[in-house]
Amino acid sequence: MSETRAIPRHVAIIMDGNGRWAKQRNKERYEGHIAGVESVRAAVRAAARCGVEWLTLYAFSTENWGRPTAEVDAIMELFCRTVMGEAEDLVRQGVRVKVMGERTRFSEEVLRMIERIESVTAEGRRLTLVLAFNYSARREMVLAARALAERVASGELRAEDIDEADFADALMSRGIPDPDFVIRTSGECRLSNFLLWQSSYAELYFPEVLWPDFGEEEFERAMEEYARRERRYGLVTEE
Ligand code: IPE
Ligand code: IPE
Ligand code: MG
Repeated sequence: MSETRAIPRHVAIIMDGNGRWAKQRNKERYEGHIAGVESVRAAVRAAARCGVEWLTLYAFSTENWGRPTAEVDAIMELFCRTVMGEAEDLVRQGVRVKVMGERTRFSEEVLRMIERIESVTAEGRRLTLVLAFNYSARREMVLAARALAERVASGELRAEDIDEADFADALMSRGIPDPDFVIRTSGECRLSNFLLWQSSYAELYFPEVLWPDFGEEEFERAMEEYARRERRYGLVTEE
């Protein structure tokens, strides 16, 4: 049987609903984040199995620093613990990890873990897992504007020559294809400062399920939803 189904090359997920998941169970919010790690594993496995080449997960926004210190600390600790624990498995699965976000405000330990997971998995060829961590799309664009302005000031680039490719190259997502499919769990229908430039023509999907309940089956269902979408890019397409 040769069924051809459109597969998104790049899937980006706003992993939302951990706090509500915990609340529903009378647990602390951080327990929701811990439960969410299993969904990260499931998404990585399912993405690799489906032939997705890039998987971006929004793990921590710049705005998330404003949460109670105990929760921020728990998320940072969970990040370190998960990176330590999953490294071998990721290598075995051929997953390369890239961390996208400003490398500021992190503790020494978190910085070490970021560098470690990126170097240990650097040879992975099956799937690239991009972890958006201390990420803000607006900040990313401001930094890009600054970098381009500096190139203009130094005479290396002319302002009138700046095009979309130059701008894309100045973003943190340099070299990463635009997401084809953006999923946000928990029923919230907003982007919360995630990949605003890159998602220009992405298909958006807002399943109700909370992130800790988003397993491989939900990922499969999302892929089916994507396959039903018709992408037009502003053109008239023949029926
Ligand atoms: C998403 O879950 C995880 C992060 C933002 C780190 P939330 O913690 O936002 O969960 P809700 O939205 O409060 O349920
Ligand atoms: C977006 O979720 C950030 C991450 C999933 C990491 P939030 O829960 O922080 O976003 P808002 O506050 O609902 O917009
Ligand atoms: Mg949330």
